[in-house]
Amino acid sequence: MSTFVNNAWYVAGWDREVTETPRARMFLNQPVVLFRTPDGKPVALEDRCCHRHYPLSKGKCVGDTIQCGYHGLRFDADGKCVEIPGQDMIPKNARVRSYPTVEKYGWVWIWMGDPALADLSLIPNWWWCEHKDWAFIKPDLLYINCNYELVTDNLLDVTHLAYVHLTSIGTSAITDFPINTSRDGDKVRMTRWVIDRPAPPMYQKFGQFPGNADRCQMVEFVPPAFCVNFAQVADTGTGAPEGQSGTRRIEIMALSAPTPETETSTHYFFGFVRNFGIHDDELHKMVQTNFTNVFKEDVDVLNSQQQRMTQMPNAPEIDIKVDGPPNLARLVVKRMKAAEAQTKAPIESAAE
Ligand SMILES: [Fe+2]
Repeated sequence: MSTFVNNAWYVAGWDREVTETPRARMFLNQPVVLFRTPDGKPVALEDRCCHRHYPLSKGKCVGDTIQCGYHGLRFDADGKCVEIPGQDMIPKNARVRSYPTVEKYGWVWIWMGDPALADLSLIPNWWWCEHKDWAFIKPDLLYINCNYELVTDNLLDVTHLAYVHLTSIGTSAITDFPINTSRDGDKVRMTRWVIDRPAPPMYQKFGQFPGNADRCQMVEFVPPAFCVNFAQVADTGTGAPEGQSGTRRIEIMALSAPTPETETSTHYFFGFVRNFGIHDDELHKMVQTNFTNVFKEDVDVLNSQQQRMTQMPNAPEIDIKVDGPPNLARLVVKRMKAAEAQTKAPIESAAE
């Protein structure tokens, strides 16, 4: 069974990262070159010239093609070789693999599996990114030396906020309240309400709650690797599940799209949407900095966790109560991989 779900959209880069200067990036163990044509189309090709394997990313964009920096062969957006300097005949198999791409929510998405199955409706519906009542924060990606499923584990287990993020979005009160796990098809959802407790330090800074707060934590996982971490904090007595609309209520979501690089490394793309102070530039910067720092705390944990797992590959582990949602997500992904393995093997290279 493949380590990855191939037939899925993954984030390849922020739109600002895909330009007329080629960029090398590895996804699902496959080297890819990203570039943009002069008319704005993002292109993703196998990062290897079909002549002598030199990475195309070391070449340059020429018009709407990319030119190999070794012998000058040029390839169009479909991966077809359109010029071989010094000869008129271009062999039919002179091509490299081209990956479907699409731009959505400020990201360039890539489909690493069978191009015939690249269905746009499989991109998660993160409509807040485009809605006038929400502000969208777009931080640079983080690089993590860990398997992408450890990121999902981390996002679906918000108990760790009480330990890893105690000075920002965590409080020790979290563990006083149970979690609820539900499943809707392939989606996994975790919900927890923390009622009548002090708001965590960062939310207190943003919400200025005069007393205790009611807080909802909800995480929705969409396979293979997307998570929305929703946090709502409101004056206590107004924000609880059965409560009235609060006079003071803030809502923020972290949108996570970790893209596997290898079995043990991940490009962690993420953004934040919020519905408070949406035109406040200072707040915008403050939320971006503070929440990105929270994510960096996770990166430290994940790097260390993977390092130990690599050093001790056969060490046993135990499950505890809070592993319910992450374990369910892993089961969904495992089934997707198994279903993919039943169908034809993913295309390795168009040249083969
Ligand atoms: Fe975290």
